[in-house]
Amino acid sequence: DLVLVGEAPGYNEDQQGLAFVGEAGQLLTKMLSAIQINRENTYICNVIKCRPPKNRNPNPDEISACQYWLSCQLELLQPKLLCALGKFASGFLTGIGQSMWQYRGKLFRYQNIPVICTYHPAYLLYHPEEKKKAWQDLKMIRKFLDNKKL
Ligand code: URA
Repeated sequence: DLVLVGEAPGYNEDQQGLAFVGEAGQLLTKMLSAIQINRENTYICNVIKCRPPKNRNPNPDEISACQYWLSCQLELLQPKLLCALGKFASGFLTGIGQSMWQYRGKLFRYQNIPVICTYHPAYLLYHPEEKKKAWQDLKMIRKFLDNKKL
């Protein structure tokens, strides 16, 4: 039902071939369990499928090279909800803006799938003061999955 979309694999993810397995991934697991979601019951992936050298931001040609794969993943999974993690995934999935305040608290659509945006867990590790806002976003996800009015 729930697909979480991050930016790109980091070092640990590249080594293991899995998304969000490092420190940010551990926080993501906790964030999900706070709304009674076991991460094993979600699908976690990234917009970009290869690690950009030195963790630099992905280039437009890299984004378009990877777009097809995300599109196929979503076509196969047919999730009820997408959660964009951080500015990059939010910008990509909403097609607008550049700041988190433009993405949070609203429902967007990507390939006709509803999208809720929240902070990237790696950002929250450095900005714990934003966790309160992330909690609001997580409650919105819970509400949506419970089929309640947002
Ligand atoms: N950050 C991301 O955006 N994706 C990962 O898989 C790991 C860290």
